[in-house]
Amino acid sequence: MASITSSLSSLLFLATSSLLLHGSSHVTKAQTYPPLVQGLSWDFYESSCPSLEYAIRNHLRQVFNDSIAVAAGLLRLHFHDCFVQGCDGSVLLEGSASGPSEQDAPPNLSLQPAAFKTINDLRGIIESQCGRVVSCADITALAARDAVYLSGGPYYDVPLGRRDGLSFATRNQTLANIPSPRLNTSGLLTSFATKNLNAADLVALSGGHTIGIGHCPSFTNRLYPTQDPALDETFANNLYEICPASNSTNATVLDIRSPNNFDNNYFVDLLNRQGLFTSDQDLYTDSRTREIVTSFAVDQNLFFEKFIYAITKMGQLSVLTGTEGEIRANCSVTNSDSLFLPRSVEKEEIGLAKW
Ligand code: HEM
Ligand SMILES: *[C@@H]1O[C@H](CO)[C@@H](O)[C@H](O)[C@H]1NC(C)=O
Ligand SMILES: *[C@@H]1O[C@H](CO)[C@@H](O)[C@H](O)[C@H]1NC(C)=O
Ligand SMILES: *[C@@H]1O[C@H](CO)[C@@H](O)[C@H](O)[C@H]1NC(C)=O
Ligand SMILES: *[C@@H]1O[C@H](CO)[C@@H](O)[C@H](O)[C@H]1NC(C)=O
Ligand SMILES: *[C@@H]1O[C@H](CO)[C@@H](O)[C@H](O)[C@H]1NC(C)=O
Ligand SMILES: *[C@@H]1O[C@H](CO)[C@@H](O)[C@H](O)[C@H]1NC(C)=O
Ligand SMILES: *[C@@H]1O[C@H](CO)[C@@H](O)[C@H](O)[C@H]1NC(C)=O
Repeated sequence: MASITSSLSSLLFLATSSLLLHGSSHVTKAQTYPPLVQGLSWDFYESSCPSLEYAIRNHLRQVFNDSIAVAAGLLRLHFHDCFVQGCDGSVLLEGSASGPSEQDAPPNLSLQPAAFKTINDLRGIIESQCGRVVSCADITALAARDAVYLSGGPYYDVPLGRRDGLSFATRNQTLANIPSPRLNTSGLLTSFATKNLNAADLVALSGGHTIGIGHCPSFTNRLYPTQDPALDETFANNLYEICPASNSTNATVLDIRSPNNFDNNYFVDLLNRQGLFTSDQDLYTDSRTREIVTSFAVDQNLFFEKFIYAITKMGQLSVLTGTEGEIRANCSVTNSDSLFLPRSVEKEEIGLAKW
């Protein structure tokens, strides 16, 4: 009964999401979304950049038409931005432990170069329409939303008004805040609890792995030296072919049933012991999260509803607002770095400050 009620309410939500924009619906924002933090609002750029969301979606439709893989890259970028020193665009800075210049920093976080480029391209398009009023952190949050929506997932509104940070996180901070794919559910719950995210949020957000890929070193702990008993046998045999050694550089899809569609098949995979990472499969092994996984596997609308709630929470982590931070002129560098330092010196200083 409870699940029928929630399916109905999420169907209602999907059917009325455009009405929601105008504030008249049976399903109110207060039921669908967590409370907004001080300084963020639903209509932040309504007068300063009315074409913002249309411009982003229009460009991303073209980008995804050429390469749907970029959608996963953009979603993951928002996650990494928010988990390390808050959603302040710091992940985008050249010199950061996961930003454009450090693709090979151990562990290889393998954020997609194309995703960084897409954020910068979007920034340029938006500046040409509205001037420099929209932060790179907000562009990243909106791009992640459209990655979900244009991949077949739910549409949701994004609270806006984030400002861009003035510094990137150290490598140690990044390693301490981005959970490892080798973590079990205990480790994941602890990591997410430091961000005020609970078990339902953890499972819903892990559903982001319904799109995109992972490289062998992220999951060969489950193959070598011994096979993880939680792996389906046929699935494991395929993984041995893709990764003949634990350091192979191949990659494979995160959701074998529908790798490019944002749907609930990731949870169906887990029920069939076909989750790719330890951190995925253990959500079904562990009794604290198992029922949540099952509930999403049998009810996509419930997954979508909880995903919207959780990603909106995640998207508000330690945001800068008001007069904090800045609006970057180039998402890859802070304004002081891009304006006052000659290019060669700038690179060197970042290198010294960082390493
Ligand atoms: C629960 C903890 C999480 C862990 C341990 C984790 C770990 C990982 C790892 C290891 C990869 C693959 C890296 C590689 O080998 O190339 C990956 C990819 C990805 N992750 Fe997560 N992740 C987590 C949460 C999230 C969240 C919250 C989201 C977004 C809602 C997300 C979205 C993605 C996406 C879309 C990809 C594919 C990226 C691509 O294809 O370029 N992940 N994740
Ligand atoms: C999508 O790609 C196809 C073929 O690559 C192209 O013909 C079409 O114009 C593209 N559509 C958009 C909206 O970019
Ligand atoms: C590290 O990441 C870069 C950029 O995504 C990728 O080209 C490279 O193959 C990765 N290296 C390994 C060992 O996975
Ligand atoms: C980073 O972490 C490593 C190992 O945990 C430690 O040895 C090192 O001193 C740390 N570096 C900084 C700058 O904190
Ligand atoms: C989870 O992992 C930690 C660290 O590896 C380990 O100590 C703990 O026993 C594991 N918990 C479960 C329930 O497997
Ligand atoms: C994976 O990489 C190895 C080399 O390490 C290669 O021989 C093999 O064909 C690749 N397998 C797949 C499925 O891509
Ligand atoms: C993997 O490790 C083996 C043995 O340490 C080494 O010979 C090989 O070159 C490595 N391969 C890659 C792709 O790093
Ligand atoms: C933005 O900054 C990066 C890093 O310094 C630089 O490579 C790139 O050319 C800049 N982009 C623009 C449009 O100025």
